[in-house]
Amino acid sequence: MNIPILDLTAQYKSIKSEIDAAITRVVDSQHFILGPEVEAFEKEVASYCGTKYAVGVASGTDALILSLKALGIGKGDEVITAPFTFFATAESVSIVGAKPVFVDVDSKTYCMDPSLIEDKITKNTKAIIPVHLFGQCADMDKILEIAKINNLKVIEDAAQAMGAKYKSRQAGSMGDTGALSFFPSKNLGAFGDAGMVITNDKATADKIKMLRVHGSTIRYIHSAVGTNSRLDALQAAVLRVKLKCLNKRLDGRRKVAEYYNDRLKNINTLIIPYSPPYNTHTYHLYVLRVKPTPEKLSKYLNDAGIEARTYYPVPLHLQECYKNLGYKKGSLPESESASPQTVAIPLYPELGAKEQKFITDHIIESSK
Ligand SMILES: Cc1ncc(COP(=O)(O)O)c(C=O)c1O
Repeated sequence: MNIPILDLTAQYKSIKSEIDAAITRVVDSQHFILGPEVEAFEKEVASYCGTKYAVGVASGTDALILSLKALGIGKGDEVITAPFTFFATAESVSIVGAKPVFVDVDSKTYCMDPSLIEDKITKNTKAIIPVHLFGQCADMDKILEIAKINNLKVIEDAAQAMGAKYKSRQAGSMGDTGALSFFPSKNLGAFGDAGMVITNDKATADKIKMLRVHGSTIRYIHSAVGTNSRLDALQAAVLRVKLKCLNKRLDGRRKVAEYYNDRLKNINTLIIPYSPPYNTHTYHLYVLRVKPTPEKLSKYLNDAGIEARTYYPVPLHLQECYKNLGYKKGSLPESESASPQTVAIPLYPELGAKEQKFITDHIIESSK
């Protein structure tokens, strides 16, 4: 058997005629940048997420960068975030000239541990970026409360968690802004790069709209130095089709995850994903924690034709480019211990019962 970690072809096949029609509609219109397709998609995402505004941008990374810029964060500022995440989270902070300050993660959810935030707040701290890692939300009530008391902005990195709920609220909708990524492998994936900022604040939404077109609202008149970060109409058209099936797909993901959880819950060397009662997980990635030898499990699965890999082997505070920040091995023990022990296995709604059994049989066998 050959089972990829993600099967985009299967997804495309299931909605091919609708997607192809949407692409043809844009090609026929010859309107490729922003325009009615993007505006319609922005309204649909805002409605899905329960926010007043949604602004389409070129990627999830840009959604973070433009959020920071729109909220006035830059040189000399510090932004508290988690080290167990994809690099773009901290990179966006560095790109705007601010300094990422890492707090360790919770040992069970791998999301930012709110009890560690206050110790890291200084007079320069301007914002917190919680990361909704692997498809479930960080403990937002606690984070929002700390932010309110300390007058800090909150930018949710919801790149991996579109459709996840914290209590009854959608991922990305609780902070000053939420950054969504539509990278093809994400819960809602485009046919290329795409992203969005969601917010309830009109001034922030307007600022991001201005920044995404070179700091301009009137053609050739520039009120700020912005960038080119426009969502293109082809991506919006594809994403509009996929948004309609998002909830069904997330239910499908949860079903596979439940099967995995059930079959793998009693293996001594494995920890299955933990989801606290306040969260509705989307299982963007189904990540096992494997002790003591994750490499052995990955190799065993790969040899059997099952794709499996580690997300993310090196936490951000120990990355070469952040040496100057002064973290050492042991600075953030939970992230350092968890991240190299992770093994993500294939999970998507089209994954058949036979494949699910094959995967779990192999995990059980390898763990003996
Ligand atoms: C947690 C996290 N933040 C930010 C990003 C950046 O999103 P994009 O790839 O769309 O720029 C990603 C995407 O991989 C991500 O996983």
